[in-house]
Amino acid sequence: MRLFVTGLGGYLGHAIAATAAGHEIAGTIRSTPAPPGTRAFGVDVRDEAAVGAALDDARPDAVIHTAYVQGGDDERSVNVDGAAVVARAAAARGVRLVHLSSDVIFTGDLGRALREEDPPAPMTAYGATKAEAEAVVTAADPGAVLVRTSLIYGGAEPSNHERRALDPAMRFYDDEIRCPVVAGDLAGAVVELAGMPAVSGPLNVAGTDAMSRLEFARLVVAARGGDPDAVRGGPHPPGRPGDCTLDCSRAAALLRTRLRGVRDVLAR
Ligand SMILES: NC(=O)c1ccc[n+]([C@@H]2O[C@H](COP(=O)([O-])OP(=O)(O)OC[C@H]3O[C@@H](n4cnc5c(N)ncnc54)[C@H](OP(=O)(O)O)[C@@H]3O)[C@@H](O)[C@H]2O)c1
Repeated sequence: MRLFVTGLGGYLGHAIAATAAGHEIAGTIRSTPAPPGTRAFGVDVRDEAAVGAALDDARPDAVIHTAYVQGGDDERSVNVDGAAVVARAAAARGVRLVHLSSDVIFTGDLGRALREEDPPAPMTAYGATKAEAEAVVTAADPGAVLVRTSLIYGGAEPSNHERRALDPAMRFYDDEIRCPVVAGDLAGAVVELAGMPAVSGPLNVAGTDAMSRLEFARLVVAARGGDPDAVRGGPHPPGRPGDCTLDCSRAAALLRTRLRGVRDVLAR
């Protein structure tokens, strides 16, 4: 396949390039360089003309939309308007779209794992932009798949979540539950989904172990030979999601890519 990855310089962008041997990879970059062997377009995803021109040049079989920001004045314009631009551009050209979404579009108060049909109910401003992005992408391109994922780690470099875990000054929520996913597993899944145009709508794609941010940080520290009991934690403040465990049974049945849990990965 020819794949076009927005956010090619990002953490998942690099993992996709590392995973997708045999595929041609192009995509957008901003300030962070693209992985070697890929073709980069210096394009802001909010720029409709530039996104369209890049797609016309690269002529991909599928677009994987990872570009986003968290926090800051551009959060809504990049995450919502940018997603709409990419979805319209892909739909206008009949190109398959895999859109990256998040588990924090939910409040996490259902008392059970979240399923694809559960309605989004974000608690944070960032979560609200990702929920709105899902809506605008679906309106522009009903055939797009919306990949809801969780904390990404275990790529070629430590992710920001792992770097924070290794910082002794940090504290971690013991009651915010997530399903961390290895970058390579997530990349394999999204590349597989790029070639599955019949799969549309929300799909939960995350690691099989649900755990608190504190337990994740302790496992990261222990895997590097540190003292897990030295990692401190406490409850999350009001306004943050609680249990965002994603029920990934649909993805497990659909995909060849195995989505491993943290204990399995870090025990190696
Ligand atoms: N990371 C996680 O733990 C996590 C958890 C749940 C969901 N997700 C979702 O997974 C996706 C990928 O996450 P990631 O960790 O790979 O993110 P990342 O490392 O922060 O990469 C995001 C990329 O988007 C690019 N970007 C930002 N604004 C842009 C714009 N206006 N135009 C074009 N490119 C722009 C950035 O470029 P520059 O670096 O050059 O600024 C960066 O390369 C996101 O959609 C996110 O919502 C991530």
